Amino acid sequence: MNFSFPQSVKLMEVGPRDGLQNERLLVDTMNKIGFIEGLVASGLKRIEVTAFVNPKWIPPLADQVEVAKGIRRQKGVSYAALVPNMKGYEQALNTKMDEVAFVLAASDTHNLKNINAKTDAAFSRYAEVAMRALDDKMPFRAYISCAFGCPYEGDVAVSRVVHLAKLFNQLGAYEISIGDTIGIGDPKQTLELVQAVAEEISLDKIALHLHDTRGMALANIFAALSLGVKSFDASAGGLGGCPYAPGASGNVATEDLVYMLQAMGIETGVDLDLLCHVSLKMEKLLKRQLSSKLLSTKRIGPS
Ligand code: HMG
Ligand code: MG
Repeated sequence: MNFSFPQSVKLMEVGPRDGLQNERLLVDTMNKIGFIEGLVASGLKRIEVTAFVNPKWIPPLADQVEVAKGIRRQKGVSYAALVPNMKGYEQALNTKMDEVAFVLAASDTHNLKNINAKTDAAFSRYAEVAMRALDDKMPFRAYISCAFGCPYEGDVAVSRVVHLAKLFNQLGAYEISIGDTIGIGDPKQTLELVQAVAEEISLDKIALHLHDTRGMALANIFAALSLGVKSFDASAGGLGGCPYAPGASGNVATEDLVYMLQAMGIETGVDLDLLCHVSLKMEKLLKRQLSSKLLSTKRIGPS
């Protein structure tokens, strides 16, 4: 039998943003910068370093400007930030981010809770930011969150996700990241969703952003790989969650994903030992064990 998988995949490391936005213990700015620089040293080439959102909404990322300005930048690495509106975009521009990301849920209720606007109004806001970004030659990607299900509205129609993916593609997003914000998806659903989106936009522009609440993320990634998806978001140690999506736990752990991909002969460019070292350091700062399975094989001594 012949199996065909991509030879290499692109990763978007979201630990410093998605990971730290949901933590109870605050990590100080210098340690955040050290975390980001360590992740880059492990070979990660795209990294979402923060979010230019209202700090009243996301207090753990209130030092976003200091973090963005403090990182010693490395050539060949794209430093990204989440922006929910023009104000956030301008901060990203002023702090010399290489790319930005928008987030829009496939459900009105989640959009209201998360970004204080219904889907259509929020999309119009992004359309304006996208025009600016195109003028500035700032690459942008779009998250479609709650694509596999919404914590408030339940099932989400595939057609809704496809519609939003098409809209963002028309705006000029270089990639559309389909988000399982509450980790409710399964491999069959992943196949169906990716296939439906890929009928409208090129497979090369599709990424997956999978929270691992029910332990399905790697199985879902395997399903997507078998369709030829080559871009995945992941979070060091399995950090992550959205404070405005009840039940959203960590993302798929970057270590676990890289381990699986390497074992399958798929290139990631990441040094696993270095990455585990960085995640273990963050684990110490957060004073709790992170969820990555691979990390549990690296801890020495009694836990
Ligand atoms: P709003 O209250 O409607 O904003 O919030 P507004 O425009 O009415 O302004 C009110 C105040 O907010 C003003 O300040 C603005 O200046 C300020 P005031 O005059 O009262 O002092 N403001 C800002 N401050 C800093 N940065 C900004 C900004 N914009 C306005 N960009 C807003 C709307 C979108 C700002 C708010 O709802 C917000 O910040 N939401 C962010 C929520 C968030 O970050 N959630 C987590 C990330 S999403 C996620 O995790 C899912 C994802 O991982 C994918 C997945 O898992 O599927 C991406
Ligand atoms: Mg997320």
